[in-house]
Amino acid sequence: MSPGKRGLIIAIDGVAGSGKSTTAKLVAQRLGYMHMDTGAMYRAVALKMLRCGVEVTDSEKIDDLLRNTTVTQKESDSQPRIVLDGADVTDEIRTPEISLWVGPVSENPLVRQHLVRWQRELGKDGGVVLEGRDIGTVVFPDADLKVYMVADLKARAKRRRKEMLAKGLDQSQAEVEASLAARDERDSTREHSPLRKADDAIVVDTTNLTIGDQVERVVELARKIAPTAIRT
Ligand code: DC
Repeated sequence: MSPGKRGLIIAIDGVAGSGKSTTAKLVAQRLGYMHMDTGAMYRAVALKMLRCGVEVTDSEKIDDLLRNTTVTQKESDSQPRIVLDGADVTDEIRTPEISLWVGPVSENPLVRQHLVRWQRELGKDGGVVLEGRDIGTVVFPDADLKVYMVADLKARAKRRRKEMLAKGLDQSQAEVEASLAARDERDSTREHSPLRKADDAIVVDTTNLTIGDQVERVVELARKIAPTAIRT
């Protein structure tokens, strides 16, 4: 850990539904770090573009829009609340419509450029767990710890379906599997910052792990890097 930093920079990347969000949130709680859900930031930008009727191909309007947009996070006990231009949009960004629309939005290089800048600014002092697709490869290639989370498609779909049901959204297992598979394909084959494991990332396969196991594994890896700073 570099001197003067508040703590480690921990990057957690991986496929959708691998358990990144829950793990990142709980690891951050254990270590007293900030949790940054970068996917939620892309979702908030997608929501704003949708509301303002800005097409994903209109670079000029996107640039203008993003210069006048703020996306921040408020810590809360459950999940971080996402605040877009001062209003809490945590629930609006999780609809199936935004899940579809955020794909093309996150492929736009201009959108990525703005978001990577915001993320670096928010995380540069350390003491942060960032989760996303390009954290260890692009946002913080020098992160102190890089974790790459994977899990079987079936296991991921089962978890995602449960989360959706809790919010009153009912989709069949087959539908959820198909949508996750399509997102995997899209995230890993896109032109700009595709999802890929950084060479120095440690793979954690969560197919047969409980949430507690996942968290313990990441905390243990962090402890190995900074044994004196992390005693929890
Ligand atoms: O993790 P999520 O499902 O909330 O992510 C939403 C979208 O944003 C998904 O299509 C992948 C994309 N994303 C990205 O391109 N880069 C990140 N660092 C995080 C998410």
